[in-house]
Amino acid sequence: MNRIDAAAHTRGESLFLDDMPLPSGMLYASVFSSPVMHGNIIRLQLQEARLAKGVVAVLSSKDIPGINQIGSIIQDEELLAQSKVNYIGQPVAVVVAESQRAARNAAKIILAEIEELSAVADPKEAFEKGYIIDTPRTFTLGDVDSLWQKCDLVAEGSCDTGGQEHVYLETQRARAVPLEGNNIRIYSSTQSPSAVQHHAAKVLGLSSHNVEVEVKRIGGGFGGKEDQATPWACMAALAAWITQRPVELVLQRGEDMKMTGKRHPYKSDFKMGVTKDGVILSYEVKHYQNSGAVADLSTAVLERTMFHSTNCYYIPNVRIFGVCCKTNLPPNTAFRGFGAPQGMFAIESAITKVAEKLNMPREEIQAKNLLAANNAFPYGQITEDCSIRTVWEKVETRYTLQKIRKRMLSFNKSHFETKKGIAVMPICFGISFTTTYMNQASALVHVFTDGSVSVSTGGVEMGQGLTTNITAIAAKALGINHNRIKVEATNTTRIANMSPSAASATTLLNGNALLLAVNQIIDRLKSLLAKELSISDKEKISIANEKVLCDAHDTGWTWDRLIHTAHQKRINLSAHGFFATPKIWFDKMKEKGSPFAYHVYGAAVIEVTLDCLRGVYTIDSVKIVHDLGRPLNETVDRAQIEGGLAQGLGWMALEDLRFNDKGQLLSRDLATYKVPDAYFMPDDIEIEFLANEESLPGPYGSKAVGEPPFMYGIGVFFALRDAMRAFMPGNDFDFATPLTPERVLLQLYPEYVKRISCKC
Ligand code: MTE
Ligand code: HPA
Ligand code: MOS
Repeated sequence: MNRIDAAAHTRGESLFLDDMPLPSGMLYASVFSSPVMHGNIIRLQLQEARLAKGVVAVLSSKDIPGINQIGSIIQDEELLAQSKVNYIGQPVAVVVAESQRAARNAAKIILAEIEELSAVADPKEAFEKGYIIDTPRTFTLGDVDSLWQKCDLVAEGSCDTGGQEHVYLETQRARAVPLEGNNIRIYSSTQSPSAVQHHAAKVLGLSSHNVEVEVKRIGGGFGGKEDQATPWACMAALAAWITQRPVELVLQRGEDMKMTGKRHPYKSDFKMGVTKDGVILSYEVKHYQNSGAVADLSTAVLERTMFHSTNCYYIPNVRIFGVCCKTNLPPNTAFRGFGAPQGMFAIESAITKVAEKLNMPREEIQAKNLLAANNAFPYGQITEDCSIRTVWEKVETRYTLQKIRKRMLSFNKSHFETKKGIAVMPICFGISFTTTYMNQASALVHVFTDGSVSVSTGGVEMGQGLTTNITAIAAKALGINHNRIKVEATNTTRIANMSPSAASATTLLNGNALLLAVNQIIDRLKSLLAKELSISDKEKISIANEKVLCDAHDTGWTWDRLIHTAHQKRINLSAHGFFATPKIWFDKMKEKGSPFAYHVYGAAVIEVTLDCLRGVYTIDSVKIVHDLGRPLNETVDRAQIEGGLAQGLGWMALEDLRFNDKGQLLSRDLATYKVPDAYFMPDDIEIEFLANEESLPGPYGSKAVGEPPFMYGIGVFFALRDAMRAFMPGNDFDFATPLTPERVLLQLYPEYVKRISCKC
């Protein structure tokens, strides 16, 4: 089956929020936001904007009929700043006008008198000053402290990962339409329709049932619309509520980049103790997360950092400390990997440091410490089916790492200014929302009398291929052709209390809910068939290829006849399914539990060539072995792996968020913020799937695929470092990202840098 939306996407026929017909009388909203990092609002001057041409209303916190609060985990986020601003780009007022231009122009003439306060941008500085969100957390396994003396080598260091802008093609946007009787409908580009519904109701002082949220599809989310689509939808809803006209709010790219949060930058300190053979005995890491000005999802992101701080390695003695540090930057948020990449970067840095000190290839230490069955993670979960060793063996037999190393050594010997480097990046990623209760989903299925089928779930199509997966599951479970299936837009009136489409678990959760719904209908149909065909055991009946079979023999009944008969016999042809992932739990008091349904494993081998005179480099190849379970659609999954890899490579090597000392974002457009393109990506990408027969909770034995491949990209940092060390043997470079060509050059020529006293 092809990707269901490929043709329409390619022809530009798929409708996104902006492509919907304009309702008559629609107004446009534009946001006035804080120009400073931190300050008290003394006075807001809105009068001039109110009188500007085309302006219908200018709204501030005073105009909110309900509660001015949209914090999801912690209630610390105002929709519109009332008396204090905490970051540049924090929404303060909303201008509503007859045209987009009028709204934007009027927003520009709003003046805010603000008493500026001192601001913090660095997480460690914030931590020292006591600016933290929630309480710091510690995971422990074994006894780290008494182990250090027993190690042959203890390596210490720190690392620093940068943020990352989501660059979803479709920027944040929403359209709100007032309906009769104090109701409102919101079209939102969100990964979380229920979050929009909940918060819009709260802001407007309504009940959830007054607010309908619909999402057909979104032009990418990557985590940036898990929580942070909500404010824009609430502002559009507020404006529509007050003007009683439809209102659309669309952020321009620059506004989006300035106002919305990004991947969390982290600073981490690590200490790793090993035997002389490279067996890791103990590991300690302290993560200082740069959370930004409000909590958003930061505490959950930090938790996932901690869950993934030992990546795919078994280490008997571990202490992981993590803290959310409150800074005066936009609230950082979910981004593919959800904190795991930052945790993995730290341990890969520690392993690198150890390898360099032991003068051993990095991959030898990695291979020696891989997880096996029945190992405990520091958070208590025991590995069941753990495929990382099989993955590694496959990598070894296919790519023979030693051969690659040899080839590189001889290349590096014969080239002075060009050096090659290699790194293996194995991954382990836990599937399930780390917040256990969120692992639930519903589906609603209607079979119409002509045999066509309507499917609704709580999942949002964001480009990841959910619609294709859901269609495939429905077609397979019903035994009919996939063109009989229509997947409806995601709508809060059809599916209640949805979890966000996130955590890579959308197909797992919603696909299973769908199966539970379909199975009810199938069961009713089988009972009917047993009667009609006088079959004593209805379990002998099955439906495949639109035909009814008994003991695999054709009964002569088609799907059409079956559905027609069922309707005549008054059989219920609709069903609602509810799924909750079984057997997962976590005890936050003890910091132990079994939070994940299973883990995804894989490994990537990355080779680079570095021009050591100019700092520029090419990624020659990325070879991936990935454990996919039994894929629903290999094309969809392959695309997720390639896309995730691109994003991971970009995070490590290219994407450079720069703020000046006033906290203003300098890289605030796509001319100054470089994302990976087709030229940046290696020509040589190989993806090999590991065949897998383990029993998996995913629909038809499928494994989640959305986020894990992002972390393959981390390898490029260590491959580049490998090449840099071939040029300057024995040198200790920073573990700081992104490792842009500029940064490479600055590190290769430190003396030169000192002379020109560059501040980079
Ligand atoms: N792929 C595309 N094309 N667009 C996206 O926005 N989001 C990623 C990943 N792949 C994303 C994507 C993120 S952050 C997650 S959590 C998963 O898709 C969400 O979808 P899933 O749960 O269906 O995997
Ligand atoms: N991933 C994404 N979103 C989440 C998670 C997670 O693990 N936990 C809570 N919200
Ligand atoms: Mo993905 S970061 O869980 O939306």
